[in-house]
Amino acid sequence: MATFVKFTLDGKIYLSEDGAPLVEAARACGVFIPTLCNYTGIPPKGACRICTVLINGLPATACTTKVVEGLNVQTSTPELESFRQAIVEILFAEGNHLCPSCEKSGSCELQALAYRYRVTVPHFPYLFPRRDVEAWHPKLLKDHNRCIQCKRCIRGIRNPAGKALFAFGKRGDRVVINIDPVTSQNISDALAQQAMDICPVGAILRKGKGFDVPIGRRTYDRTPIGAELRS
Ligand code: SF4
Ligand code: FES
Repeated sequence: MATFVKFTLDGKIYLSEDGAPLVEAARACGVFIPTLCNYTGIPPKGACRICTVLINGLPATACTTKVVEGLNVQTSTPELESFRQAIVEILFAEGNHLCPSCEKSGSCELQALAYRYRVTVPHFPYLFPRRDVEAWHPKLLKDHNRCIQCKRCIRGIRNPAGKALFAFGKRGDRVVINIDPVTSQNISDALAQQAMDICPVGAILRKGKGFDVPIGRRTYDRTPIGAELRS
């Protein structure tokens, strides 16, 4: 039987299941903590740091924190909000995110967070890296320009034999996510769609599919990210 514990979010006391991931416990209590590398159902990685909150006054990532009795969390302060804005700005500056020509526009978590944090005038120099688009796979298109290296695809997408479809290639700031030609052979349309859906940006797209949902009616066109929750 589940054990429930009391914890504090921004000065208010809530109940949660003992050991629940903090980002999900907060959402269940109606409080929004932004995430990018985190994805429900796969183990957290703590890679992007956008979910940083203050726990007993010290910064920690909410996706890797589990709720315990007496946990005292501040989810939003001017410093945390400006830190989150800077992360989004840096991710835009270090890749080539051409939103108007992206099939994920309107459903992209990075774009939605950029609207939320009012990213307009760049504060960081844009790097305009030279990156490729890979189109050899029969069902998937990989656009390295937009990859934010969150590794959700590596951690979350497996073929029916349990083998990962995606893997790291290269090193350091040249690191790329590759599609494994062996494990991704003959994948179903459903798995190709899962791969597209798990990517928070438009770096993995399904071939031959476009505009199923018109612009203006996509996820974050309808409801801005986190708008249904308190922050
Ligand atoms: S391809 Fe998408 S899901 Fe995979 S690491 Fe890049 S941004 Fe993340
Ligand atoms: S969502 Fe927690 S570190 Fe990325």
